[in-house]
Amino acid sequence: MPLILGVNIDHIATLRQARYAQAPDSPIAEPCPVQAGHDAVAGGADSLTIHVRGDRRHMQDADAFRMRAEVDVPLNFEMGVTDEMVGIAIRLNPDFACLVPEARMEITTEGGLDVVANFDKTRDAVARLQDAGIRVSLFIDPDLAQIEAASKAGAEMIELHTGEFANASGGRLVEEIARLVASAKAGHGAGLQVNAGHGINYSNIDSILTVPHLTELNIGHSIVARATRVGLTTAVREMKQLMQSYPF
Ligand code: PXP
Repeated sequence: MPLILGVNIDHIATLRQARYAQAPDSPIAEPCPVQAGHDAVAGGADSLTIHVRGDRRHMQDADAFRMRAEVDVPLNFEMGVTDEMVGIAIRLNPDFACLVPEARMEITTEGGLDVVANFDKTRDAVARLQDAGIRVSLFIDPDLAQIEAASKAGAEMIELHTGEFANASGGRLVEEIARLVASAKAGHGAGLQVNAGHGINYSNIDSILTVPHLTELNIGHSIVARATRVGLTTAVREMKQLMQSYPF
């Protein structure tokens, strides 16, 4: 099975909000996340990921609903584990929801969801989303206790947080890759779909491709950064090309 690329286009909305935070619906507000969705699909994006954060710092609710209605690839809705977001997800009806931790002051999602410590709340959110027909992924650190808890909570998928990997070098990098490999094996062994994401770029992807049992990579920042030089469609196409050599 070829490795699937989910493109996270939150940063297109980040750029729009830098100027149009007060009027994201204005006819002159740009760039348009939905147009970016179409451009990413033209480059080979298999799915799109958007995160409507509690503080609405980038994607707005209206972006999510337009994306769902207008872009014809599976939509992955990243969300905090809150009643508000579960309610939005149920109305939005994305193909997948990925539960993530959300702290107001963080720049981006830092660390995985602590499913062990928040087991009941996570399991309840998973059940409510699944009852609405949405497949659920949990964004967790590559940690065996978290994988076991994710499986017990009833999720269909896990997304292994690759942020530590992306920040590591030397011996630490070797350790982080080993953690990802062990976690992917454990997740697969538990019957979970195993995805990965955070901090993956055009240079470190080679190491990610040594991790077995991966189904999908979710990549945002590096693709949007590359898009400023070559355009989003080409940036996505280049990443897809690098992913072709996944040997598992
Ligand atoms: N997966 C999840 C769950 C995330 O929160 C993010 C960041 O929004 C990503 C993937 C993409 O990370 P990056 O932007 O570093 O590629």
